[in-house]
Amino acid sequence: MSTVVLVLGACGQIGTELSLKLRSIYGSSNVIASDIKPGSDELMESGPFELIDATNGEQILGIIQKYKVNSVYLLAAMLSATAEKHPQKAWNLNMKSLSIVLDLAKEGRIKQIYWPSSIAVFGPTSPKTNTPQNTILEPTTVYGISKLSGEYWCNYYHSNFGVDVRSLRYPGIVSWKTEPGGGTTDYAVDIYIKAVKEGRYTSFLSGDTRLPMMYMDDAINATIQLMEADSKALQIRTSYNLSGFDCTPKEVANSIKKILPDFTIDYDPDFRQKIADSWPDSIDDQFARQQWNWKHRVDLGEMSKIMISNISKTVISL
Ligand code: SER
Repeated sequence: MSTVVLVLGACGQIGTELSLKLRSIYGSSNVIASDIKPGSDELMESGPFELIDATNGEQILGIIQKYKVNSVYLLAAMLSATAEKHPQKAWNLNMKSLSIVLDLAKEGRIKQIYWPSSIAVFGPTSPKTNTPQNTILEPTTVYGISKLSGEYWCNYYHSNFGVDVRSLRYPGIVSWKTEPGGGTTDYAVDIYIKAVKEGRYTSFLSGDTRLPMMYMDDAINATIQLMEADSKALQIRTSYNLSGFDCTPKEVANSIKKILPDFTIDYDPDFRQKIADSWPDSIDDQFARQQWNWKHRVDLGEMSKIMISNISKTVISL
């Protein structure tokens, strides 16, 4: 049976690049991108697209039947900073969409689910450095609470109903094709865009705020590698710790200065500082490395080169 994928939240930062990659693997017509609004030209022109509200179960079922979808990637979510401003809306979107998709799998309408969790499941009482997979999980953000609850719903549906749901605790994801929206780690994208366009950046996190980060291509590869792994190898059905590298705004700025020597940065922390301070500095992802051979490729220096060269091309072509 061929894989037919529905991506919910396909126009967001991760959804856009994930959909494009899935299309290159499974064939354009076998990857249905969907969101509440249309996305980038590249995404819209490369295969089927449907307008779907991820909290509307009937709409989702209709599209699953229309295209004979057997695998759903649920990327629709409200991220940490926006969720603090709209807690009920965030809870509704993040939890209802997951519960709909889990039930569809329980009813046998789809075979596989991917659902991302986040470093936001950790909180101020978790160990800060090399935070282990199994440790104190006391999130203090609405987003973190929704992700932690979601992880246990995934685990519950897997152990009680045999649902094949797989998940990764993403760190901050850095990319140049589509900007993130409403996250605390977004500075690590904004900083490159402003560096190229304006030569300066004001960071909403303090210079020494260390957070786990990953370049987009690594995040996409990890996702696909996890989804293609032999189910028997996967011992974790909440969500896997996943790590690339870790850095502070000051370190990102220094790596930009190696390429753009005139770049300057200053710091004006806002409400997102508190969110960042509650999250780990770095993550221990040994189970991902052991159980399905995860290996990250891109570090900070390499990422700066990729980000700056691609953003420069985009700016020139505008
Ligand atoms: N990047 C997300 C955020 O900042 C964390 O998963 O909200």
